[in-house]
Amino acid sequence: MQIVILPSADAVAEYGANLFIRQLTDKPGSVLGLATGSTPLALYQLLVNACRQQQVSFARAKTFNLDEYLGLAGDHPQSYRYFMQQHLFNAIDILPENTAVPDGTATDPVAACQQYERQIADAGGIDLQLLGLGRNGHIGFNEPSSGLRSRTRIKTLTPATIADNARFFQPGEYQPHLSITMGIGTILDAGKVLLLATGTSKASAVKAMIEGPLTAACPASALQLHQQAVVVLDDAAAAELADIEFYRHIERENQALLKRLSGQ
Ligand code: F6R
Repeated sequence: MQIVILPSADAVAEYGANLFIRQLTDKPGSVLGLATGSTPLALYQLLVNACRQQQVSFARAKTFNLDEYLGLAGDHPQSYRYFMQQHLFNAIDILPENTAVPDGTATDPVAACQQYERQIADAGGIDLQLLGLGRNGHIGFNEPSSGLRSRTRIKTLTPATIADNARFFQPGEYQPHLSITMGIGTILDAGKVLLLATGTSKASAVKAMIEGPLTAACPASALQLHQQAVVVLDDAAAAELADIEFYRHIERENQALLKRLSGQ
C-alpha cells in the first residue's frame, strides 16, 4: 500500500485527478472503475476541467461504476447513474455506451450482477479503480462482514450507511436499503486501486484499513492484499495513524528516488 498524506482535501483531489490523467495519457483506452459520494466530487470537477482544456480525453475510455441502489432507475436524482451523468459523464467526451453503472431496476438483479462481472471481463478488466471509504470501512457497498473474495452481488446496507447517505434524500423520500455492488474480489482484480479519504470522520476507518488486521470487519483492509493500491489522505483523515511519520518519510524517499531517476 502506498500512503500519501497531503495537507488538504483539494490537494487529495488534485493528486487523484493527475493519476487519472496519467493513466489516460499512457493508455487512452483505459478501463476505469468509478465511485460516487462526496469524496470524488472535486476530482471529477478537475477531470471535467482538464477535458475541456483538452489535457485529457475519455473518447476511448470505458468506465464501470462500483455500485447502485437497488430499486432506483437511472433518471432518479439519487441514483448513482444520475450522479455520474451530472458530475462527470455529461461534461466529458466519453461515449455513453462506454459508461456502465449496475442496473438498479433489473428485473433479475442476480443475473444482472453476473452480467456486470462478464462485462468487466470482456472489457479486459479494470485498469484503475477509484474508491472512497465508508466511516465503517466499507468500499463500494461492501459493508463489514462482506466476503473478502466476493464478486458483484446484492448487498444490504447497514443502518449506519443508510443514515450517512440520508443527507442526499429529501425528508420522507424513499431511500433504498439494498444495493448492487462490485465485490471485494472484483475490486482487488483491478490493476491499480486509488482510494481517497478526507476529513476527521474517516480517521478511524483509515486507521483500521492501514494498520488494523486484514478482516472482513473492515472491508477496506482487503487493500493490504493489493499490489498497487494508493491511499491518498488529507491530514484530518490520517490523524489516527500510529506510524504517520514513517508513511511521510517513505513518501519523501519515494519522491527523492523519482527525482533522481528522472535526472532532475
Ligand atoms: C460510492 C461508494 C461508497 C463511498 C463511501 C464514502 O460509490 O462506493 O463506498 O465511496 O460511502 O462516501 P463519501 O465519499 O460520501 O464519504
